[in-house]
Amino acid sequence: MHKIKIVQEVNLPNASERLRAIRDAGFNTFLLRTRDVFLDMLTDSGTNAMSDRQQAAMMVADDAYAGSESFYRLEDAVRDVLGFQWVMPVHQGRAAEHLLAEAFVKPGDVVLMNYHFTTSKAHIDLAGGKVLELFGPDALETESSNPFKGNLDLGRLAKAIAEFGPERISYLRMEATTNLIGGQPFSLQNLREVHAVAVQHNIPLVFDGSLISENAYFIQQREPEFAQASIPEIILEMMNYVDIFYMSGRKSAAARGGLIATNNKAHFNRILPWLPVYEGFATYGGMSTKEVEAMAVGLREMTAQSVASSSADFIEYFVNRLVEEGVPVVTPAGGLACHLDARRFLPQVPQAQYPAAALAAAVYLTSGVRGMERGTVSTDRDAQGNDVLADMELVRLALPRRLFTLSHIEYTIDRLKWLFEHRELIGSLRFAEEPPVLRFFFGRLEPIGGWAESLVAAFRADFGNRF
Ligand code: F0G
Repeated sequence: MHKIKIVQEVNLPNASERLRAIRDAGFNTFLLRTRDVFLDMLTDSGTNAMSDRQQAAMMVADDAYAGSESFYRLEDAVRDVLGFQWVMPVHQGRAAEHLLAEAFVKPGDVVLMNYHFTTSKAHIDLAGGKVLELFGPDALETESSNPFKGNLDLGRLAKAIAEFGPERISYLRMEATTNLIGGQPFSLQNLREVHAVAVQHNIPLVFDGSLISENAYFIQQREPEFAQASIPEIILEMMNYVDIFYMSGRKSAAARGGLIATNNKAHFNRILPWLPVYEGFATYGGMSTKEVEAMAVGLREMTAQSVASSSADFIEYFVNRLVEEGVPVVTPAGGLACHLDARRFLPQVPQAQYPAAALAAAVYLTSGVRGMERGTVSTDRDAQGNDVLADMELVRLALPRRLFTLSHIEYTIDRLKWLFEHRELIGSLRFAEEPPVLRFFFGRLEPIGGWAESLVAAFRADFGNRF
């Protein structure tokens, strides 16, 4: 329910150029330059198409260090859409995670959650806390028909509270459409039940709403109680169960920034003093006022049915077409991306030799499509320096909101089909340079053997030199 008003030219380098580019990037798609990328499916973060109204709002931004009118427009949007009185802008989602960890996590504490996200875990670890994930029995199964694999397991929650005691639990964190297990949502019923337990033990419930509109859309589509409810109604109903809300504004809200919001003044006051220390004054929080304006409009727009569904419906098409072609993907389709299951795609690559990273590189080599490794490379080593094998080995092909057309998706499906037919050509990777923290960002890898050259040779034999 939109049309294209501004376009950006993209370039499709041929297979030999792609081989050079991925070598220069240390077989890490994060280190590719976008001039070498045809379709950028690395992330949906900060890459969504903005609306004309968002761009227009940016032109009336009120640049002031303190008391900016742009902030008050954001505050109004948060009050209307989410129902929270107290709002803090932050420069992006991980800044909210940092402030929450600073204010709530003490050394020796635990934070309970449905599933971790890389940056949320990093900030909790740095504050001396520990993350405990309480996902359900089939959350990690890549082939599933469970509509709510993001649900938090109530039995495991009761056990964790009994084991640690509420006083050692900083907070409970519910992530809307759990990023690392394939964008899988939780149900409203699950949120209600988790909230009831949190209230009983006086544990704050923190909601990561970076993909809130997509989780609301899945609730509407998959939870019969809400089949007739609108997206704004579902969002407000969810917020009834939340003590502290935070989000990256770079996803559902299609801007670049983030926020923390609550109706609990005591929680707000506990976080607020740290805001100017790490981010900026309370009315801009490290964001440009232009982005504050864009986020205010984006928050309102994400509640439109056609916006909340825009990337989810494309992802569903993408996933279902690949299932038809026999290409292993995470099912059911979730938010943010289509996820290839590298373990099933590449059974010949041992997990310690990074199948998801190898597959991400192979996808780029055959298509110019840039995805992201979400597997063992994205999991840091333990305190003893051992590799920690990830729960899942995924290649994420993210679909930023309103950015691609269906022909982009069809092109990608076509190339993935070819790659799957030639999957035996794909080999292993090892680290050449490995940073000590969040190694997936800057780590450099190298293929074991000459498989990248063989894959490119097979591709050129079929497609010629032009592609
Ligand atoms: N929470 C979730 C669920 C996220 O997906 C992200 C970011 C963050 C928090 C951190 O927000 O990037 O604004 O600092 N996810 C991005 C991604 C990076 O590519 O999935 P941020």
